[in-house]
Order: sequence, then C-alpha cells, then structure tokens
Amino acid sequence: MRGCENIFWEKILANVSKALFSVAGKTALITGGGSGLGAFIATALSDAGARVLLVGRRLERLQETLGNRDGACFALDLTTDQASVNLYHQVATQNDMPDIVINAAGINPRIHADDIDEASWVGSVHLNLNVPFLVAQKFVPHMKAQSWGRIINIASLQSSRAFENGISYGAAKGGVSQLTRAMAEAWSKYGITANALAPGFFPTELTAPLFAQPDVAAKLAAATAIGRNGMMEDMRGPLLFLASDASAYVTGQSIAVDGGFTAK
Ligand SMILES: NC(=O)c1ccc[n+]([C@@H]2O[C@H](COP(=O)([O-])OP(=O)(O)OC[C@H]3O[C@@H](n4cnc5c(N)ncnc54)[C@H](OP(=O)(O)O)[C@@H]3O)[C@@H](O)[C@H]2O)c1
Repeated sequence: MRGCENIFWEKILANVSKALFSVAGKTALITGGGSGLGAFIATALSDAGARVLLVGRRLERLQETLGNRDGACFALDLTTDQASVNLYHQVATQNDMPDIVINAAGINPRIHADDIDEASWVGSVHLNLNVPFLVAQKFVPHMKAQSWGRIINIASLQSSRAFENGISYGAAKGGVSQLTRAMAEAWSKYGITANALAPGFFPTELTAPLFAQPDVAAKLAAATAIGRNGMMEDMRGPLLFLASDASAYVTGQSIAVDGGFTAK
C-alpha cells in the first residue's frame, strides 16, 4: 500500500515540476540566436515547447538554428539607429509578441585600455548594455498587459571580475547586472521578472581565441570549483528555471553558471 502511495505522489510531483518549469505555449525572442549561447538557448526553449524568434545580423545562421522549429527569424543589426524600434515593428506586424525576451547578442573587442578608441568603446557598450534595455523595453507593454513576462539578460564573469583587455566589455557587463536590478525594480510589480545568467567560459565564436590556446583553456578550467569549462547543456536548467513559473519570486538577480569560478 505504501509503495502505491509513493508511486502516486511521484507521478503527481513529476507533473507539478513539469508544469512549474514549463514554457510550453510561450513565445521567446532571443537576440544573438544564430550562434553560441543564444542558439543553444533558442533550441532549449524550443525543445521545451516555446515558439522562438531569433534575432541577429546573419540570416543564414538564424535559419540554421531555427531549422524546422516553430518560430521566425529577424535579420538586423541591433547597433543601427532605431534598431529596437524596427525590430518591435517587424515582430508586431507578425502579431508574434514575445512573453520572454533573452538578450544574448554581444561582442568583446578585447582591446587594451591604453589602445581602445572611441568607436570601439561606444560600439561595445552599446550592443552589450544599451541594446538589452532598448529591446526589452519595447516588449514590456505586451508583458504588462498579460501580467506575465520574463527578461533574461546574459551577464558574464566580467560583470564582477576584471579580465585582461576587457575594459569596454567588462564595463558593459557590470552594467548588465545593475540593469537587471533596475529592470526588476521597474517592472516586477507587473508580473515581469528580470534576471541575468552570468556564464563562465563556454566555447563559442566569442571565446574562440581563448579556446584556441589549450593552455589558456586549461587554466580557466582550473580556476573553476568544478574543474572544467562550461558545456552548453549546463545552461539548460538555469535557463528553464528563469524562463518559467519556477522563478516567479526571483527577480533582479544574476545567477552565475560558471562552475564556481566566482566562488573561488
Ligand atoms: N561564451 C562565453 O563563455 C560567454 C561568457 C559570458 C558571457 N557570454 C555572453 O553570451 C552572449 C552570447 O555570446 P556567445 O559566447 O554565444 O558568442 P557568439 O556566438 O559570438 O554570439 C554573439 C551573438 O551576438 C550576435 N550579434 C553580434 N553583433 C550583433 C549586432 N550588431 N546585431 C545583432 N546581433 C549581433 C551575433 O550574431 P551575428 O554576428 O549574426 O549578428 C551572435 O549570434 C554574449 O552576450 C556574451 O557576452 C558568453
């Protein structure tokens, strides 16, 4: 009898957790969805039942990520004048408004503080910090109207640590953590949570110069508590937590997905 009760409760709890972490029926817009972490995030949300709207400059990369999945691609350069407004109009025209916005587009110019020029500084800070705000802001009225929304920014180890040649990237990513808190302050009372995922080192186009040097990659792995660098699959759980009802009372937080790099 006791065994039967256990099976009963296991089934109930399995369904409760499925519903709690579900994004089925939601629409998610992912900037940087054509490669790296953004592409993984898009496929993970799609695997979990969300429709995905992918944004980036390279249409072919967006289409490659989307494949036969439910969603759409929006090829545009987010650093151009009025880009977030143009994106909003393109999305609204399709009546495809997102419940979840993920800001994953980013660049790291890796230029020393002595040498970075104004154009590189402004370009890096604009894409990494201004664009996440400008994009999310456009879709907040829709989220407010339905009293439910999720904004997930992609922060970094450099939100809290300084790395060589990371002056503009680190300044912007530090800003992303504070932007996340400020978004939470502004919008959480309307059922919209704003959080950030702060990844450690994951092999992508952005980090290719580091992973091309096995000694550097090994040093970074050794700097974590777990003893290895990130694998895409490490993002799935934290992502679904922040994108779903499971995190309804979590807002304004940056969650490090870094194998304990920042804990050491
Ligand atoms: N990989 C890591 O270890 C790591 C660690 C911490 C944080 N992050 C963050 O994770 C996010 C994703 O980076 P990633 O590592 O996955 O590198 P990635 O593959 O290079 O992704 C960056 C994405 O941003 C898009 N993008 C760049 N400039 C753009 C622009 N002007 N307009 C629109 N889209 C633009 C790129 O697409 P197009 O070139 O097609 O436009 C690309 O899909 C970034 O915010 C990065 O800072 C990464």
